[in-house]
Amino acid sequence: MKLLKTGTHAAVGCVLLVLLILQTEATMVRHNWTVDYMFSAPDCVEKLIIAANGQYPSPPIFAVEGDTIVIEVTNHIPTEGIVFHWHGIYQKGTPYYDGAAYVSQCPINPGETFTYKFKVDRAGTYFYHGHFGMQRSAGLYGSLIVTLPDHKKEPFSYDGEHRLLLNDWWHKSIYEQELGLNSVPFRFVGEPQSLLIEGRGKYNCSLLPESTASPPGCLTCNASSPWCAPHVIPVTPGETYRLRIASVASLSTLNFILENHKMTVVMADGHYVKPFDVYNLDIYSGQTYDVLFTANQDTSKNYWAAINVRGRNPLTPTGLAVIQYLPNPATLLPTTSAPVSPVWNDTATSLNFAKKLLAKPGYEPPPPKKCDRTLVLLGTQNEINGNVKWAVNNISYVHNATPTIAALKYKIKGVNNPVPPPDFPAESYNIFAPPSPPSATYGTPVYVFEKDDIVDVIVQNANTMTPNVSEIHPWHLHGHDFWVLGYGDGLYNASRDPASFNLVDPPLRNTVAVFPYGWVAFRYVADNPGAWPFHCHVESHFHMGMGTVFAEGVRHIPKLPLQTLGCGLTKKHL
Ligand code: C2O
Ligand code: CU
Repeated sequence: MKLLKTGTHAAVGCVLLVLLILQTEATMVRHNWTVDYMFSAPDCVEKLIIAANGQYPSPPIFAVEGDTIVIEVTNHIPTEGIVFHWHGIYQKGTPYYDGAAYVSQCPINPGETFTYKFKVDRAGTYFYHGHFGMQRSAGLYGSLIVTLPDHKKEPFSYDGEHRLLLNDWWHKSIYEQELGLNSVPFRFVGEPQSLLIEGRGKYNCSLLPESTASPPGCLTCNASSPWCAPHVIPVTPGETYRLRIASVASLSTLNFILENHKMTVVMADGHYVKPFDVYNLDIYSGQTYDVLFTANQDTSKNYWAAINVRGRNPLTPTGLAVIQYLPNPATLLPTTSAPVSPVWNDTATSLNFAKKLLAKPGYEPPPPKKCDRTLVLLGTQNEINGNVKWAVNNISYVHNATPTIAALKYKIKGVNNPVPPPDFPAESYNIFAPPSPPSATYGTPVYVFEKDDIVDVIVQNANTMTPNVSEIHPWHLHGHDFWVLGYGDGLYNASRDPASFNLVDPPLRNTVAVFPYGWVAFRYVADNPGAWPFHCHVESHFHMGMGTVFAEGVRHIPKLPLQTLGCGLTKKHL
């Protein structure tokens, strides 16, 4: 009896010791942020932006795989709620900290403090951003870099690394942009004024009417202003660098070029790909790429790193940063003209690049061979009561005042659409013509899956309301990565096209583009109990209803922390 007891004690002691060791290995990464409006001039033109800790871009987060990130956010904005979405992070077990307003939580009200706490389970290049209204467009975003623990090695080597957050930029505030999008007649946000690299760009201020009239306008626009200097990427000649490239663009497809330098693509959205070489690459909003390059050019010069708009007829000048070959001064600007990208409407080139992305064998799991359920989601541009909208299978997404996850967890009626949204579009729909009739309905649709269902999603593109126009849409899924099984032209054919799916080495990602008049197919495992937005990552498109919600394992959704509740009908459940 006595012996047995000692044995138990020893066992308990052992468990405690193991727990202690585990705890010291996985660390907590803590940040304290206050979020507020501020004046900033990222492209030399001053405007209102939203930022954390007065920094633009907001502070980068660095963590090691397995770490727990704890971010205490205080909202200092006097008049609007905020949320932070951790783009590319699964949030396994913490679906309520995904940071999608009215899907996973109530917005953080002015004056309130909210603590996000979640684990980062996979190394890679990620980012975070505001996910309420168009807050990402207002500049509320930053990098989230997860590195490998010491005992793990990357399947490539390099001497140093640099982060490059890419964005497009407007001079109008997001409030004017939002109002325009919601107005009759419709006022589009238009093409961006500038393209930014790590929050820096340079607008040609002579184009601004205000600059000749009265300030502020281009007040800060002169070459001596620190804002007007391009972002600098210092390199030591002969060394190899890892670039962590991420696009938080609001609208544009960006094409990234390193002048005179070849790049090797090694990761996409935090997953290893079979390495391949490029001289430029397309990146859609919501995606990340890790590329390697060697500083092996003439060392007497510096070079441009550049981004151009593709996929839309570009009206925005090239965004430029400087690759500084040390010890050349950073101010030694290249005398060459801005690098040129492939023509904007050369879809074949974009598709060719997309198809080069394949999983690195032995490093990424292959997809399950079969699926349990298939959705065909048709994205369309529509008109509802004179408003221009976007819709998925004819439902234009609008938030409900009660977060979706809370409605599911607490079975609150009258929040999510009682009738499940359709798994397929109308069979007779003609994707090559404007929608007729142009109307759609507003809704808060939720596709509900069983836990561990294997789901195939085909996103089908179509003509907009303008004849002969079909736009690119980068589709992003929260809480998961998916295997990109294939792309196709025209209307998806369910009896013919699955035969062409790549089930051997498809890349895993969280964001994929659907090309004009085409479709893209992906597969994912619904193994993460929660409610997850699936939407176009173009800020204005999502704002105009181009999204839906996937929910799974509803019975397994954990208890929702009090701080995530309090809005809409959740008050009753506090
Ligand atoms: Cu980065 Cu819901 O998006
Ligand atoms: Cu879109």
